[in-house]
Amino acid sequence: TNLSADDQKRIAAEAALAYIKDGMKVGLGTGSTAAHFVIALGRKAKDEGLKLTCVPTSEATDKLAREVGLTVTTLDDQPHLDVTVDGADEIGPRLTLIKGGGGALLREKIVAFASSQMIVIADESKVVPHLGNFPLPIEVVPFGAQATGTRILESGKLFGCDGAISLRTDEYGEPFVTDGNNLIYDWALGEIPDPDGLGEYLSRLPGVVEHGLFLGIAHAALIGKADDSVDTLN
Ligand code: A5P
Repeated sequence: TNLSADDQKRIAAEAALAYIKDGMKVGLGTGSTAAHFVIALGRKAKDEGLKLTCVPTSEATDKLAREVGLTVTTLDDQPHLDVTVDGADEIGPRLTLIKGGGGALLREKIVAFASSQMIVIADESKVVPHLGNFPLPIEVVPFGAQATGTRILESGKLFGCDGAISLRTDEYGEPFVTDGNNLIYDWALGEIPDPDGLGEYLSRLPGVVEHGLFLGIAHAALIGKADDSVDTLN
């Protein structure tokens, strides 16, 4: 067998169903891999008559979850979740992640942080020896966005990071606007020598709402592989 990337995502998503038990509160990620999970979860809940309460990490996932018959609520209603299942753009050593390629990093991080466990699901192309080939998404408020971009570049110098940032645009060439009405910079770094240092510094920069480095958050990653197997990384 030589599974396509999309099939690898699907088998990883199906493997994550093993973490779901009746009565759980479940965070739902965003992106094509998370969409496979939402669909599989909807089917499982229906087949087994499970009572689940789900908190989506984006408007898109909210819509899909309702379509497949899942019960959806908000984090304000359910501040503690049992498990969140989400995709990632890169999975580095010790379950460090880059997320935000889909633009949902802020809600994804809030929901993952509210969960006892975060399970990452991905195809094998997402596993990398070091983070940074995927441009790091950074969500910023519109006010002073240019200046915040300059501050971000300056911060990079302190952490051995060098690369261009670009404001993310949508399919019409207009600035991409997040679910929280903010903007996103994508920062092409190639390599991030000190993800912890950079992440902490970025978190303290005024104007930065959140960044796509997820460090010490994931508990396990389920990797769907071309040979039709699923690897578990802890
Ligand atoms: C969404 O903001 C991202 O964090 C996604 O988790 C990431 O882009 C993975 O997307 P795919 O599952 O579509 O590869």
